[in-house]
Amino acid sequence: MKFFVDTADVKDIRELNESGLLDGVTTNPSLIKKSGRDFLEVVAEIAAIVDGPVSAETVALDFETMLKEGRKLAAIADNIAVKVPLTMDGLKTCKALRNDGVMVNVTLCFSANQALLAAKAGASFISPFVGRHDDVGFDGMDLIEDIRVIYDNYGFDTEILVASIRHPVHVLESARIGADVATMPADVIRKLANHPLTDKGLAGFLKDWETTGQSIL
Ligand code: E4P
Repeated sequence: MKFFVDTADVKDIRELNESGLLDGVTTNPSLIKKSGRDFLEVVAEIAAIVDGPVSAETVALDFETMLKEGRKLAAIADNIAVKVPLTMDGLKTCKALRNDGVMVNVTLCFSANQALLAAKAGASFISPFVGRHDDVGFDGMDLIEDIRVIYDNYGFDTEILVASIRHPVHVLESARIGADVATMPADVIRKLANHPLTDKGLAGFLKDWETTGQSIL
């Protein structure tokens, strides 16, 4: 499973990229606001740091303007994935950008039927939002399971990019179901490495090692 970080914070992106664990980045208008940076400038900087896809989101609602925005974003770098909303205009824009050979991430997906439409529009990625689904009383992971079954039934190659991940259990469940990508905040990626028994075990080994008086180097 690929790991994307869901942020426009260049410091976090650089640090995770150096760990070798990062396969891509997703941003959205709210994350751009949080970064306090100029959108086009920060996206260009991120795309130069990571080799994998960097999602940059359009903000227009109509097809013509959305397509213009998408083409402008795609021109920033070869690894830009243009993010469009799951609306009829977004799907039409998806198809047009895919015909241009541009990667497209269809975002704000909350139903399996929406995911089916995105695949038919040739989306490179579909972004179902699990955390926001949980927030309104549904199990977001049921949605991921449904999309996996449907995509496998028809051999769609659209990658399931699980979004709105809030905690490590979302990542575990996504991996169990066979989602292609998980995008998550930097702190969730870091939390995946944590286990109290790892910390306890390490402390015990180091305490015993000290008593040997030896050194490796
Ligand atoms: C995905 O691409 C979105 O940017 C993101 O995962 C949304 O997450 P949130 O629901 O925590 O805002």
